[in-house]
Amino acid sequence: MRTCRICDSALTEIMSFGDMPIANGFLTSLEEKEFLFPMTLHFCSQCYMVQLGETVPPEAMFNGNYQFVSSTSKAMADHFQGNAEEIQTRLKNVSDPFVVELGCNDGIMLKHIAQAGIRHLGIEPSANVAEMAKANGVNVSVQFFNKATAEKIKAEHGQADVICGSNVFCHIEDLNSVFEGIQVLLKDGGVLFFEDPYIYDIVKKSSFDQIYDEHVYYFSGLSVAELAKRHQLQLVDMAHQDVHGGSMRYYIQPGSQNTVTERVVEWIQKEEDIQLNDTRGYEKFKDSVNAICRDLKTMLEDIKQRGDKVIGYGATSKSTTLLNYAGIGHDLIDYISDNTPNKINKYTPGTHIPIKAYEEFQQDNARHVLLLAWNHKKEIFAKEKDFRASGGRFITFFPEVVIE
Ligand code: TMP
Ligand code: ZN
Repeated sequence: MRTCRICDSALTEIMSFGDMPIANGFLTSLEEKEFLFPMTLHFCSQCYMVQLGETVPPEAMFNGNYQFVSSTSKAMADHFQGNAEEIQTRLKNVSDPFVVELGCNDGIMLKHIAQAGIRHLGIEPSANVAEMAKANGVNVSVQFFNKATAEKIKAEHGQADVICGSNVFCHIEDLNSVFEGIQVLLKDGGVLFFEDPYIYDIVKKSSFDQIYDEHVYYFSGLSVAELAKRHQLQLVDMAHQDVHGGSMRYYIQPGSQNTVTERVVEWIQKEEDIQLNDTRGYEKFKDSVNAICRDLKTMLEDIKQRGDKVIGYGATSKSTTLLNYAGIGHDLIDYISDNTPNKINKYTPGTHIPIKAYEEFQQDNARHVLLLAWNHKKEIFAKEKDFRASGGRFITFFPEVVIE
């Protein structure tokens, strides 16, 4: 029996995906041996945390070659500049403030804090992206964050007014140790905020492709409130973010007597309305995920049978889950177009679909495109308006399979 990583209670399995490759494990050659792990999703009915069953050792994912560089997307760059502005507003009346970011990646957010002359420290376990952050003028320490490292940072710099992290908390299996570190490092009256894909959006849209090896946790207001409480912290605010197909930013402060916003109450009510506090909510999710996979595969097979081809758009990490779980391989998708230089001429994990440069797609007369980077739909539809105007069609699949 598996137990909850947060509270040690018995977990309930929601879904099993079979053997999955690493979502970012793009292959240079088809001779490479792939690391596979049995991927399952579980729910804790005590603390409401949704989490993976088995996980992949972090060394296999966040090493010197970690592929995901935040700054490649313009929309994400704007989003993080907004985060930096919010921090600066919050710190306006604080003398000599100190900001710590966990998982600062290439410094996409923290560089704005550095440019404003605010004392700061980024903690980044991946050496290659940490180097990029340094080049962006950011103070970085290459390490994992826990109680022991928090003690050291505190001794050297004092406590932090702000601790933040974007798309990092959901990656850290030993989350209790991170929160122990936060308890040490966060000043009384200071604030921790972090954002990650929101399980409410995932369940509402059936967008199960957020579930992959790197994401150990799928947070809700329900589960984050419980997690905070276990560490003498309190969830005080929630702000929904329109990135990664729907994310939530959680604001947390030390103690238990802070003012809690109406937004927290409202979001938790919405979560309870779709039964995110009950295994039944996840049963429905599983059924609609399976229906989408069936419908999508049938549509692609029909197109193929007519003698047409389908191109994928965006070799995203999350498409590894969709393609492998739905059984969509090179037989149904000719290739995937992507604009990230280091993905081009590689193959998708598990399904071995070739990845080609965007120019290839531009010169192609293909009429059907599977929008794997569906979270960038607005930006991509704007960019591809000529393709659509001339009869080209995108296939999207959350919350249902649509050709548009
Ligand atoms: P993400 O959803 O994790 O940000 O990944 C998006 C992927 O899609 C990334 O590999 C880049 C690719 N992409 C394109 O190829 N063209 C585009 O216009 C956009 C927005 C993304
Ligand atoms: Zn639990």
